[in-house]
Amino acid sequence: MKIVTVIGARPQIIKAAALSRAIREHFNKEVQEVIVHTGQHYDDNMSQVFFDELDIPKPKYNIGVGSESHGVQTARMIEGIEEILLKEHPDCIVLYGDTNSTLAGAIAASKIHIPIVHIEAGLRSFNKAMPEEINRICCDHCSTQLFSPTATGYKNLVNEGITSGIYHCGDVMYDNSKYFANIADKKSQILDKEGLKTTDYVLCTVHRDNNTDQPERLNAIFKALLKISESKMLVLPLHPRTSKSLNINLEKSLFDKVTNNPNIKILPPASFLDMIVLERHAQMVITDSGGVQKEAFFFQKPCLILRSETEWKEIVECGAAVITDADEDRIVEAYNRFMENPPHKYPEIFGDGNAAEFICKEMLEKF
Ligand code: UD1
Repeated sequence: MKIVTVIGARPQIIKAAALSRAIREHFNKEVQEVIVHTGQHYDDNMSQVFFDELDIPKPKYNIGVGSESHGVQTARMIEGIEEILLKEHPDCIVLYGDTNSTLAGAIAASKIHIPIVHIEAGLRSFNKAMPEEINRICCDHCSTQLFSPTATGYKNLVNEGITSGIYHCGDVMYDNSKYFANIADKKSQILDKEGLKTTDYVLCTVHRDNNTDQPERLNAIFKALLKISESKMLVLPLHPRTSKSLNINLEKSLFDKVTNNPNIKILPPASFLDMIVLERHAQMVITDSGGVQKEAFFFQKPCLILRSETEWKEIVECGAAVITDADEDRIVEAYNRFMENPPHKYPEIFGDGNAAEFICKEMLEKF
């Protein structure tokens, strides 16, 4: 079986590591994988570092789209992916998650009748203002095999009338967190380098466009973080989009207080191993990232979600995470509540750590 895997944004590179590892360890003779990087993320610390750390094969192609408007970025990727598919003639294309790279892969492949395998299928925020929501709905509805990490994702597909080729298989990110947790503790120097001690800090990430690009939301989030920093160290590995928007969208006095604050450590984007270590040793996680929400759960850390909804509703339902939106009072209040009363229940929602192997087996059956 020959597969073309399309990756482009940071979380996809990480997810792809799990499948490439399963192929290398269990299906080396049966599966040939050709990796295509769209170039959506291009900074070394958003892309190359993950290939180096996670042992992912070098992409055979890089389309090099870079940063553009959604339309231009997606269109260039479609063109590039189509050309590669016509040349490679794979049995199927493998797509991850919900980025513009996912959408472009789905459109390119479906137009020329190449079957699509969607990993992380079925997730819904039910908020179509998110570009990611449109991307995942379109991709799911073009796919032949749909692998959902959660029971809720599986149900969402059934509710939308997709009933064949769907699987509830667990989460490849959980595979990775399990596999890399101890390796990260041995290899990463981040705690020493930044002078951090276990549970002495709260880890925070912000990158969703509605938080970074809407000044009132960004200001509310950072006002809350400033309050929390009065009693606790905050560590913020910042996405490049957020670094740019702090300068533009944060009120001047707030910007000065945030950026000259010894209790707010602003770092460049972290590598995967550093991020896992930061998550594993934090007291709490505050984030608008889907992946970081889940990793907080994997490492049994309480999590505040800086959005009005989440695709991972199981982690909210079991009490391990709270939706605070970008609301200053709700963030501070939920933080105080979790500090006094941390959650205790972390049920097995994301499978057993072998999702990638299951996916490979099912793909081999089908193609
Ligand atoms: C994308 C995904 C999102 C995912 C996120 C993970 C879409 C619509 N969104 O959002 O689902 O959670 O990746 O990080 O595909 N930039 C750089 N260097 C880089 C990459 C980006 O400076 O290496 C800056 C550019 O100014 C760019 C902006 O970040 O315009 C946004 O990048 P983009 O890839 O469009 O979306 P993300 O916010 O990263």
